[in-house]
Amino acid sequence: MKQFQTEEEHQRYWDERYKKQGCNTVLHVNSTKSDKAKRKVELEWALAVQPNVEGAMGIWLSANKRSARLLDFGCGVGRWFPVFWGLSQRYTGLQYLGVDCTPEAIRLARQQHPTGRFVVLDDLNTFNEGPFDIVFCCTVLQHIVVPSMLKRTVAFLNRMLAPGGLLVLVENTEKIASLPYLTFRSQTEYRNMFPELEFTGAGVRLSGQEHFILRGEKA
Ligand SMILES: C[S@@+](CC[C@H](N)C(=O)[O-])C[C@H]1O[C@@H](n2cnc3c(N)ncnc32)[C@H](O)[C@@H]1O
Repeated sequence: MKQFQTEEEHQRYWDERYKKQGCNTVLHVNSTKSDKAKRKVELEWALAVQPNVEGAMGIWLSANKRSARLLDFGCGVGRWFPVFWGLSQRYTGLQYLGVDCTPEAIRLARQQHPTGRFVVLDDLNTFNEGPFDIVFCCTVLQHIVVPSMLKRTVAFLNRMLAPGGLLVLVENTEKIASLPYLTFRSQTEYRNMFPELEFTGAGVRLSGQEHFILRGEKA
């Protein structure tokens, strides 16, 4: 299937997907929408991904013993905000910022999590915050199929990570046929996008598909 060729096609897809699916845009877009099917997907993520993300960040936070600035890149409707709020209570605080290229996602995130800070990211060059101690990116890069956009995004994420900072990346690595909005990349390809980072990772299966959670620290 032909993949998106331009950034405009990419953005149109996400605008339309959020308008149609609202909060179901993430996790539930392919589920049957029955409550049971939704709970099953949520349970998989809660058991297989959340402890790894909390563990990776918890180890970093307890070693660094200071309040950290966290960037949730491609935050969607703020699904991870409550997890990070919990971490900020357990450790010495987290200053959270969620950014997403889709205005409707940010509107929904603000509505659902009024205490979170969520911002529309429409231009990587004029974004004037950062760097961040922790950068989190969950199932976003797999959706960036336009090569020029991927290149700029990876450069941005590398730039946003402070020295000594932690990148936590969660992506799908199942060898599935590409869709217009999704592409297969191996764990090695993702590791090579961040040559300055030393990674450790864990593989998990979610809804029958292989994913990984990688944590990498910048020297
Ligand atoms: C599958 S969703 C994941 C949302 C969230 N990370 C989560 O795990 O719940 C992918 C998100 O990436 C956002 N996105 C896609 N391309 C982006 C880009 N170039 N910059 C910022 N956000 C992007 C989409 O709007 C969408 O909200």
